[in-house]
Amino acid sequence: MIKTKITELFEIEHPIVQGGMHYVGFAEMAAAVSNAGGLGIITGLTQPSPKDLANEIGRCHEMTDKPFGVNLTFLPGFANPDYPGYIKSIVDGGVKIVETAGRSPEKFMPLLKEAGIKVIHKCTSVRHSLKAEKIGCDAASVDGFECGGHPGEDDIPNMILLPRAAEELSIPFIASGGMGNGQQLVAAMAMGAEGINMGTRFIATKEAPVHENVKQALVNASELDTELIMRPLRNTERVLKNEAVNRILEKEKTLGDNVQIQDIFGEVAGVYPKIMQEGTMDAGAWSCGMVAGLIHDVPTCKELIDRIIQEAEDIINRQTALIKTA
Ligand SMILES: Cc1cc2nc3c(=O)[nH]c(=O)nc-3n(C[C@H](O)[C@H](O)[C@H](O)COP(=O)(O)O)c2cc1C
Repeated sequence: MIKTKITELFEIEHPIVQGGMHYVGFAEMAAAVSNAGGLGIITGLTQPSPKDLANEIGRCHEMTDKPFGVNLTFLPGFANPDYPGYIKSIVDGGVKIVETAGRSPEKFMPLLKEAGIKVIHKCTSVRHSLKAEKIGCDAASVDGFECGGHPGEDDIPNMILLPRAAEELSIPFIASGGMGNGQQLVAAMAMGAEGINMGTRFIATKEAPVHENVKQALVNASELDTELIMRPLRNTERVLKNEAVNRILEKEKTLGDNVQIQDIFGEVAGVYPKIMQEGTMDAGAWSCGMVAGLIHDVPTCKELIDRIIQEAEDIINRQTALIKTA
């Protein structure tokens, strides 16, 4: 058993969180992680409307009686989802934990806090973590450069980012990005984190509601198989290499800083259902972390979480024994 401020805060058994993932974070995923003693998270914006999110929350309650959360990703200015509507579905659905990401959740903090919701903000820098602390977030998910999805523009890996967060933050934080095994859980805790957040690793599990081709792509990939796209747009995303990603990189090379989102629209917009549900692996760019290099199997969520905790406990016991006998 590894008990930390995060297991206490979220009333979960193990300090392992499944980050929100577009077209992966359905009720099946969140319930499987929560039933295994971690914290599962439904991805709010994968649901087309607040009403659909309410249904998804209802389905998740039917699959687990353990705590689970909802991810709310605050997108760049041009997109304008009905955030108050989504928050109402979360509150009415009795969900008590929200993972926010993207832009600052400041505007919506009063709504969330009045409803007694615990907020964990996922961010890629110490300054954004400090802002999260200042606006009343209960915890931070500190997302290093290794991560699948959007690592921000600072390019600071977790080996530096986590101890820097530990120097500055008063609220508890978990390590996000690149996490997949017990060695990393122990290392993250040594650097001040109270647990880990995993995205990519949870996609390669039996219960992940995605096409088998996606899971196999992760097992086949190495740590060298991700690319960064959209850097010239200052919306950098770490994705798995494929034909669509090669086309994006070619356009970025040719157009340089003049590249516009319209130039790569076909490769990034609306591609997730084709990849995650139909298994058409070259249909577009999809988020994937460097941890792919550490993914060699497709266990159940319980097998994965139990293995990580067992590995971590073994390491801690081994190190402690060494110190005592020295
Ligand atoms: C396929 C995929 C989709 C994702 N979609 C979202 C999302 O919609 N919102 C969000 O906040 N994070 C999203 N993420 C990021 C994860 O929540 C998590 O922070 C990240 O995967 C951690 O890095 P890791 O993949 O190395 O574990 C996504 C990640 C992946 C792999």
